[in-house]
Amino acid sequence: MRHDQTSVLITGANKGLGLEAARRLGDLGWKVFLGSRDPVRGRAAVDRLWEGGADVVLVPLDVTSDDSVEKAVQTVLGHTDILDVLINNAGAPGRAVTPSEATAEELHSVYDTNVYGPVRVTQAFLPMLGRSGNPRVVMVSSGGGSFSVITDPDQPVATMHELAYSSSKAALNMITLRYAHALPEIKFNVATPGEVANRTFAATDMNHHTGQLTVTEGTDSIVRLATLDPDGPTGVFVDRLGPIGW
Ligand SMILES: NC(=O)c1ccc[n+]([C@@H]2O[C@H](COP(=O)([O-])OP(=O)(O)OC[C@H]3O[C@@H](n4cnc5c(N)ncnc54)[C@H](OP(=O)(O)O)[C@@H]3O)[C@@H](O)[C@H]2O)c1
Repeated sequence: MRHDQTSVLITGANKGLGLEAARRLGDLGWKVFLGSRDPVRGRAAVDRLWEGGADVVLVPLDVTSDDSVEKAVQTVLGHTDILDVLINNAGAPGRAVTPSEATAEELHSVYDTNVYGPVRVTQAFLPMLGRSGNPRVVMVSSGGGSFSVITDPDQPVATMHELAYSSSKAALNMITLRYAHALPEIKFNVATPGEVANRTFAATDMNHHTGQLTVTEGTDSIVRLATLDPDGPTGVFVDRLGPIGW
């Protein structure tokens, strides 16, 4: 790759917000490593972005598999030994069963994608991120993972009685802060795709396209954190309108 190009790896980028983030960062001239657990769906997404003129490489990547993550490292290393930006976007909604019906097994499968996944991927790419002059990690969380949102009775998610997804995103938020404090040379920030104040979210497959925002609007917070300057913040939680409460 060109030595002046910024590189980004996005997990779960074959559709939805990940694909739109890939499109937008590709439009900036970045080298985009497009993660997709399904190679066929991933190839279709890469071809679409190539047609738009982006410089994109398919990275088969299932965030629940150590082996897949290790192979993804090797794929990216085939192009560059520096990764500037990692966007942990892949997410699983779970089955939204009520707390009284949620089993440990149900939580485990959601956590495997939403919590252990970002840790697996981040851990594996830390050496490559460490070689960047301005390394940034963006964790794609949710307003549902925010204690201040969940304890606000006016927020619809406050009455969405569900255990796995919201607690997985709350764990991801804490994990991000722990990374941010321990590794100040790398920016670790959290984005939620919606607008908390307006109680909106982005229409994607995950919510059966019931969201009020477009995927472009939904990726504003992700792109803002991915494109932070070297003097930008670390350890912040933002939506597209600005910082939100943890
Ligand atoms: N839409 C919103 O307003 C909203 C609000 C809050 C948070 N979020 C978060 O935003 C992120 C993106 O969601 P989205 O709305 O764009 O949903 P989406 O369209 O359903 O996309 C989810 C992506 O994650 C991938 N994925 C799931 N499990 C994976 C795994 N084990 N390994 C690799 N990739 C995996 C999916 O791949 P497949 O195509 O193979 O299933 C898909 O590419 C998620 O973390 C979600 O929790 C979204």
